[in-house]
Amino acid sequence: MKLLFCIFSGTGNTRRVGELLAAELNALGHETELYAVKRGVPMPIFSGYDALIVGYPVHAFNAPTPFLAFLKQLPKAENMPVYLMRSSGEPLRLNDASGITPKRILKKRGYSVVGEFSYVMPYNIIFRHSDKMAARMWQTAKARAKRDASLIDAGGGTKRRVGPFRRMAAFALRIEHTAMPLVGRRFRVREGCIGCGKCAAVCPQGNITMKDGRPVFGKSCVGCMACAFGCPKDAVSVSLFNSWRVNGAYSFEGDAAADEEVCKYCHKSYLRYFHEIENEAETGHKE
Ligand SMILES: Cc1cc2nc3c(=O)[nH]c(=O)nc-3n(C[C@H](O)[C@H](O)[C@H](O)COP(=O)(O)O)c2cc1C
Ligand code: SF4
Ligand code: SF4
Repeated sequence: MKLLFCIFSGTGNTRRVGELLAAELNALGHETELYAVKRGVPMPIFSGYDALIVGYPVHAFNAPTPFLAFLKQLPKAENMPVYLMRSSGEPLRLNDASGITPKRILKKRGYSVVGEFSYVMPYNIIFRHSDKMAARMWQTAKARAKRDASLIDAGGGTKRRVGPFRRMAAFALRIEHTAMPLVGRRFRVREGCIGCGKCAAVCPQGNITMKDGRPVFGKSCVGCMACAFGCPKDAVSVSLFNSWRVNGAYSFEGDAAADEEVCKYCHKSYLRYFHEIENEAETGHKE
């Protein structure tokens, strides 16, 4: 099969997981290509592909607007298979609600959603996970990508059911889509800024322009945190979210957190997520 990955990623987690899944599919003899969803980048040519894999990070239990806008621009298809792939900082089932709108758009455009794959990756906002937690997440992502690639290889996939409470909660939090451009207008840079322009280069919305060696923030922020996360001087102040700011890449390859080192917040949910694939590896059971 020839598969096209179309991924929106703010701080690299979703892209990283997409590359992992692509490598597993390549190992099974499939051909994969990666397209980065970014404002101003022309749409890819879709002909010649057997299936699409579309990926996004969960933002406030929803899919980010640039990702939804991308889906709305997809050419009409006749039951072309598509897989949804998401990364989130928490393993909460509420994150599954983020798939509702993408699935509705895809269906409307004639695509057939065969499966949904969820990966937990370190937070890029709210708080910084320890590098040990990041390493455990990465270990788990590797095992899940192997499992998910075999599901795709077999033409199958898992679908997430979302109950009415989760639907309502996610719907209410779609306010983030309207609020973020306003919040983003208040982003500022602090004294430590060296005018390197990295924030402007990584912004997937083209929302940052450099004026007199200083970044100026426009009206189309989607809160992806790429600017704050990637700043070498941790100089971006993200307005209301500043106390939740996470700066700098995680190290994924060191020692992984043991069960007792898993963070206290959502402790049980993380353990359930980590153990699920470990148990599958032992019993051969598929989700
Ligand atoms: C504005 C914003 C909202 C977020 N909301 C959620 C959320 O509702 N649930 C969650 O588990 N993670 C949430 N996260 C964390 C990201 O989903 C997670 O870190 C993801 O892996 C980032 O992917 P990326 O590096 O591809 O952008 C949020 C992150 C941001 C920036
Ligand atoms: S990445 Fe940081 S240091 Fe570089 S221009 Fe942007 S705010 Fe300034
Ligand atoms: S300004 Fe920063 S947070 Fe907003 S879209 Fe650009 S990179 Fe993302």
